[in-house]
Amino acid sequence: MNADFRSDTLTVAAPAMREAMATAEVGDDVYGEDPTVNRLQDRIAELAGKEAALFLTSGTQSNLAAVLAHCRRGDEFIIGSNYHVYLNEASGAAAFAGASPWPIEVDANGSLTPDAVRAAVREPDQHHPESRLLCLENTVNGNVQPVDLISKLAATGHDCGLAVHLDGARLFNAAAACDVGIDAFLDDVDTVSLCLSKGLGAPAGTVLAGDRATIDRAFRARKMLGGGMRQVGHLAAAGLHALDHNVDRLAEDHARAEQIAEALRAIGGLGVTQGTNMLWVTPPPEHHDDLVAHLESEGLLGIFWKPTMRFVTHLGIDDEQADALVESFTRFFAGR
Ligand SMILES: Cc1ncc(COP(=O)(O)O)c(C=O)c1O
Repeated sequence: MNADFRSDTLTVAAPAMREAMATAEVGDDVYGEDPTVNRLQDRIAELAGKEAALFLTSGTQSNLAAVLAHCRRGDEFIIGSNYHVYLNEASGAAAFAGASPWPIEVDANGSLTPDAVRAAVREPDQHHPESRLLCLENTVNGNVQPVDLISKLAATGHDCGLAVHLDGARLFNAAAACDVGIDAFLDDVDTVSLCLSKGLGAPAGTVLAGDRATIDRAFRARKMLGGGMRQVGHLAAAGLHALDHNVDRLAEDHARAEQIAEALRAIGGLGVTQGTNMLWVTPPPEHHDDLVAHLESEGLLGIFWKPTMRFVTHLGIDDEQADALVESFTRFFAGR
């Protein structure tokens, strides 16, 4: 049985989503005249409890537009040392916004501490960069950053004169895990980036939400980045469909990941951690390569980093595929 656990970005639009896209009412979004984009932006602003929102091509573009909206060239932003904006966005913040990251250590859950944030803020001095922005993330590699932690970190950031941006590529997963709305995390956050093309299953698109003045600056940044699209309501319609149909079901992905994790732990000898829809497995090093070959030969894909491999549950993974993964691991380790 084939099952692709590499990422929740791999989902393809279901027939009902394609129908919503095909029949969307559209206009020129650069003129602000695409009614479906406008509906999506209004809907996200409301869910996030923010004044305004902006539809962008991707999470990377949305985070970069946020950095451009918050920072001036030469400013510094404080960020977790394994967060996506720092590690996985091709240094766009440095290259295009001229803002340099100040990465600080995170714990095993991907969490920063308020004290570490406070300590990372520069003293005012002509020699130093100016600390301008605190960049948070939720989830971090599947790990939920609790509501009260995000609030404390954001309050610390504000207290130190920083703006606060949250990369919420998977904030809907965190909200589902905590059984709260996404707005619960956002009272003290200035801007949030929310991806539609991950657990929510849309083919593309991310929405940045925040106060009107910051979103106006991000709107200009989006143009600068080449992200002003025209009749893009066809994509926004996929996002609206995802909000209607694919938010409540995220808990299913989490339950499947948890079941797989429990079953793999029962095999013994494997390091297994799991948070929301992500599962991290560290096999004994001597078995790593053979295990990868075995899984691949059975049509089962993860991201086979060494020493720890990643499996992600999503819309395209059902119970049978989850069972197939567990059975394949079990067969491999039987007798070893
Ligand atoms: C935490 C996080 N932030 C941002 C992004 C960037 O999203 P995109 O791939 O749409 O640029 C990703 C992508 O996987 C991500 O995992």
